Amino acid sequence: MTDPRRESEDEAVRKTLESEYVNPLIQRARDRQDELLRERFVGKRKRIADIGCGRGPHGSMFGPHCDLYHGFEIAPRIAKAARARWRAEGLDHAQVFVTDVAEIELERSTYDLAICMYFTPGNFRDPSDDLSLYTDAYLDRNPRFIAVMSRFYRALEPGGALLLTVYKDVPEAEAAQHDFYLRTGQHVVTPAGSRFVATAERFWSVRFTRRSMLSNLGAFGAGAGQVTFHDLNEIGWLVEVAHPG
Ligand SMILES: C[S@@+](CC[C@H](N)C(=O)[O-])C[C@H]1O[C@@H](n2cnc3c(N)ncnc32)[C@H](O)[C@@H]1O
Repeated sequence: MTDPRRESEDEAVRKTLESEYVNPLIQRARDRQDELLRERFVGKRKRIADIGCGRGPHGSMFGPHCDLYHGFEIAPRIAKAARARWRAEGLDHAQVFVTDVAEIELERSTYDLAICMYFTPGNFRDPSDDLSLYTDAYLDRNPRFIAVMSRFYRALEPGGALLLTVYKDVPEAEAAQHDFYLRTGQHVVTPAGSRFVATAERFWSVRFTRRSMLSNLGAFGAGAGQVTFHDLNEIGWLVEVAHPG
């Protein structure tokens, strides 16, 4: 049976992915994210997991240069678009799995790179209509974020890497989030200054501090020494988590 709340969230996500309007600061962060991927990883990593692959842009980027590409996507309509795109591009070794990445079982040492792009890491949370659940303590040890990232981290080969694109917790990022969601026809329900933005349409997106990211990663044994924060621009980081080799 389909869950209407899940459908509302999927629909809100679809609007953000299909909208012609993207806030300029978000677009610049995304462009820099993709430049860094091309400079540092495309062609050098061969077995890749794409966490929340959306409509498949990174399968198109990595696909021609890798041996295996697994996209994981919860929204069936969006997954279908990724599958059609990769098929049209002849990427026979690229597959899409329709699944919730917080509940997936993965074999160890399956991937040498796991990516979670375009601010997707900020979307993982226990779904609730009661926004008071998401206290600072919750956000610093977010069980759903930890469930997802720990699974993919353990599925990395020694020497592999986990890459996460996230918002910095700065007012410019919050303003960009509000602008983007309003322009995609959504209604923001969180007060200004809140650490996350939620909409009536059930979109939810948290911003990170360095401390909150390290706290969440530390929950599954990824220590500060393994983590690099690459600046994308004033509102975003690409966080690189190295698996001990
Ligand atoms: C912000 S979009 C990014 C899509 C793509 N990675 C990109 O760079 O364009 C986040 C995607 O993650 C998917 N997603 C969110 N939660 C998920 C979950 N628990 N399991 C699998 N996919 C999820 C959404 O449906 C959406 O397509």
